[in-house]
Amino acid sequence: MSTDLTNAFYAQSGGVTSVINASACGVIETARKHPGRIGKLYAGRNGIIGALTEELIDTGGESAEAIAALRGTPSGAFGSCRYKLKSLEKNRREYERLIEVFKAHGIGYFFYNGGGDSADTCFKVSQLSQSMGYALQAIHVPKTIDNDLPLTDCCPGFGSVAKYVAVSTIEASFDVRSMAATSTKVFVLEVMGRHAGWIAAAGGLAADQGIPVVVLFPEIEFDKARFIARVDALVKQHGYCSVVVSEGCHHPDGTFLAEQGTRDAFGHAQLGGAAPVVAQMIKDALGHKFHWAVADYLQRAARHIASATDVKQAYELGQRAVELALEGRNAVMPTIERTSDVPYAYRIGSAPLESVANVEKPMPRDSFRTTATASPRSAGATCCR
Ligand code: F6P
Repeated sequence: MSTDLTNAFYAQSGGVTSVINASACGVIETARKHPGRIGKLYAGRNGIIGALTEELIDTGGESAEAIAALRGTPSGAFGSCRYKLKSLEKNRREYERLIEVFKAHGIGYFFYNGGGDSADTCFKVSQLSQSMGYALQAIHVPKTIDNDLPLTDCCPGFGSVAKYVAVSTIEASFDVRSMAATSTKVFVLEVMGRHAGWIAAAGGLAADQGIPVVVLFPEIEFDKARFIARVDALVKQHGYCSVVVSEGCHHPDGTFLAEQGTRDAFGHAQLGGAAPVVAQMIKDALGHKFHWAVADYLQRAARHIASATDVKQAYELGQRAVELALEGRNAVMPTIERTSDVPYAYRIGSAPLESVANVEKPMPRDSFRTTATASPRSAGATCCR
């Protein structure tokens, strides 16, 4: 392999998903198809931190079989991180270090696989040629179970979580229904999704199976009296009910039902624990026996039942990221553009990173039903098969 070739750097960032390695597979396999254009493809150990500490994994040392196997594995194969690059003005030294490492390894392509915060990092890196005169093309490969990136129909990772949450809510609800006459009357499932209720919405799909389900979204302030009244009415009518609560559900003053008091590098509160809080509220107000579960990492790690569409999209976005780089593009993110609802169909497009970084796409208000159980119409239904 000629040393004149431009080398590439790939890193995983933020919370991992059950299909992020499928994107890695798409990036690596596609880069290997262009040996005349791309030299070595390095992966950062633990995300961008691997670039700063010069811990680069030469993926060329891995066999074609090992790379192909990435497509079927959960977690982040190269390690991920929550690490925020400050602005150039605030931490010029960090950018100089990145350039130092990139220069030393002949890196001219940067592929960053992450969510909203990571899109911001990728955008900052994409500006390096302008701001610091180092020629680099940065392409963001979308990923987030929260499904809150703008300008894409959905985000890799979400479809599999949506499938997990929808199916688990339905199955556990059937369990409760069969015992409700003499035992448990309420099942509460807590799901991820810090600010956006797409995952919680997937739990609401249980309503399509005739299950009485209440969904508590992060976009809607928690109203205890209304919530208890709704659970009471559903249990009186059906003998049982299920509740899907987003970890991001919060009181009108902004405090999360599940706030644990700790924060990550992006300043995000550590969440988890809303389910026991609302289950206890129901017990105190209505006296019903309950069970609760926190899906936590089970939902985002569940590769064994991942959505086939999600895996395919994750791979294709990784593949397209490399193609975009070879077309000379910089500061862009490949996207999913829906072309048909039924049957679900899409094509791969692209969006400028500037319009993606730090923009969150919440559940649209018109997706919430105003009757029945406040469940969403069809969010998550199409890309979670
Ligand atoms: O990346 C998004 C996410 O999965 C959120 O839904 C969740 O709140 C968060 O990550 C958990 O992050 P961590 O694993 O860093 O605690």
